Amino acid sequence: MIRDKNTASSGAAHGCQSVLRTDADILFCIDEAQKVFSRATSRAERSSIGQFLTPAPIARFMASLFENNVTVARILDPGAGTGSLSAALTEQLISGPQPPESIEIVAYETDQNIAPHLETTMELCRQLCAEAGIAFRETIRREDFISAAVAQLPDGLFGMNHDSFTHVILNPPYKKINGETQTHRILRAAGIETSNLYAAFVWLGACLTCPGGEIVAITPRSFCNGPYFRRFRKALLGLVDLRHIHTFESRKEAFADDSVLQENVIFHGIRSEHRHSTVKISVSGGRDFSDMWVREVPFQDVVVPDDPDTFIHLMARDDGRQVMEWISQLPATLPQLDLDVSTGRVVDFRAREFLRKDPEPGTVPLIYPCHFENGFVRWPLQDAKKPNAIVSSDRTESLLVPSGYYVLTRRFTAKEERRRIVGVIYDPTRMEARRVGFENHLNYFHSKGRGLPPDLARGLAVFLNSSLLDRYFRLFSGHTQVNATDLRKMRYPSREQMLHLGQEVKTSLPDQQRIDSVLEKVCSKDG
Ligand SMILES: C[S@@+](CC[C@H](N)C(=O)[O-])C[C@H]1O[C@@H](n2cnc3c(N)ncnc32)[C@H](O)[C@@H]1O
Repeated sequence: MIRDKNTASSGAAHGCQSVLRTDADILFCIDEAQKVFSRATSRAERSSIGQFLTPAPIARFMASLFENNVTVARILDPGAGTGSLSAALTEQLISGPQPPESIEIVAYETDQNIAPHLETTMELCRQLCAEAGIAFRETIRREDFISAAVAQLPDGLFGMNHDSFTHVILNPPYKKINGETQTHRILRAAGIETSNLYAAFVWLGACLTCPGGEIVAITPRSFCNGPYFRRFRKALLGLVDLRHIHTFESRKEAFADDSVLQENVIFHGIRSEHRHSTVKISVSGGRDFSDMWVREVPFQDVVVPDDPDTFIHLMARDDGRQVMEWISQLPATLPQLDLDVSTGRVVDFRAREFLRKDPEPGTVPLIYPCHFENGFVRWPLQDAKKPNAIVSSDRTESLLVPSGYYVLTRRFTAKEERRRIVGVIYDPTRMEARRVGFENHLNYFHSKGRGLPPDLARGLAVFLNSSLLDRYFRLFSGHTQVNATDLRKMRYPSREQMLHLGQEVKTSLPDQQRIDSVLEKVCSKDG
């Protein structure tokens, strides 16, 4: 027996009511501690410091991804919280076939409220190691990981620091980095340009992984293709050999206790210059990994060679490859169709003085996603929460586009939405207006800033609403955001194919089955 709640004081902060008998209990204790901590603090408080704690099953899964046997394990746990990740890894190392001779944990944590729990966890790890005859040392650094890590960086971001860590395990804080903060300045001075703390933590964690050392992280999956994470992706893929990416099918599952809505990924990489030709992709329904489905795919299917954006494609399903191939064999690019796609220019809070609830003389339609209905724009909306109109004047001229046929898509979809991508037609014959404003939450397809030929607009809307494209977006863009860049990079049916597809649209879009069958017919016929 390692400790008894009646005789040992070290578990006090965890409020763990169980008696530790096996090493498996350590994570049970930490889970209990997380519940105690979550009850004692508000969700808003935790959210403000990006604090979403890893439940035991996920911590264990993450620990299980480490592969190497080492004699001296040096673990880095940046943003350690209650220390569940360090504990899971200690448990894993101890119970492995070749346990190390010593384990050292360096844990960074800035939240003083959680610190007692972290100390207790370290004490429990010490006891586990003592039982197993393994030397143990822990250092809890109650300081900002970013500043400390930048100070430890070897020369140049890609240099190797041979005194660094054999195991880096992290669930970093998720928080935007404000441009004016000290954090931003420190990072920029070190050459680390990223807009979210989680990417900075992973980036620095990878830099502090020793040659041959391993890193396992759970993060939002937004970095896989967001335009703001391009530098981060490049840096990460330059530093580590990506070995495994795990995704969750349900967006809420990973952090169900905190109802975190981000989609998460767990990845495992090895600090090395060598690149394997394959990578493991796995999916589980949630935090129960018993239904996990794994496959080994060519690395070049995940990160397409010469892709200037270095997108990381998460092929969650078996048909991922087929969907990708189907889309990539489409004949046209947007420029070849004489089309482009842009984000709506009206940022409503900046144009507040020009917005009107209802149309009135001197105004033109202002279109928000709430105006999307059955494949078309329905305008104006009675009792809409959003304004229906914007003043047309010299001062708003640059925000408006000339009236014409446009195809619009939402940039963000709600979590419960059935489709990732929805295309609707702005039909100028339904609104009497010389110009129109598109709000910033939507993207609009145009031809050199003007409307599209009506048939092309109809065909494009059919294509955008197909199940195939939806599946493609689910693979390619894990998160719920569809950026203009994503749409610009894709391939499209040819103009002739689009015109065929457009013939299906009358006063509304055809139903899903019809859209899918006509797409298959038209695109395989000409392709
Ligand atoms: C997402 S939580 C994860 C906690 C823990 N690793 C886990 O998996 O349960 C991130 C933790 O990072 C801490 N944190 C936030 N900013 C930090 C910083 N600049 N330096 C060190 N820790 C930080 C938060 O207090 C929080 O406990």
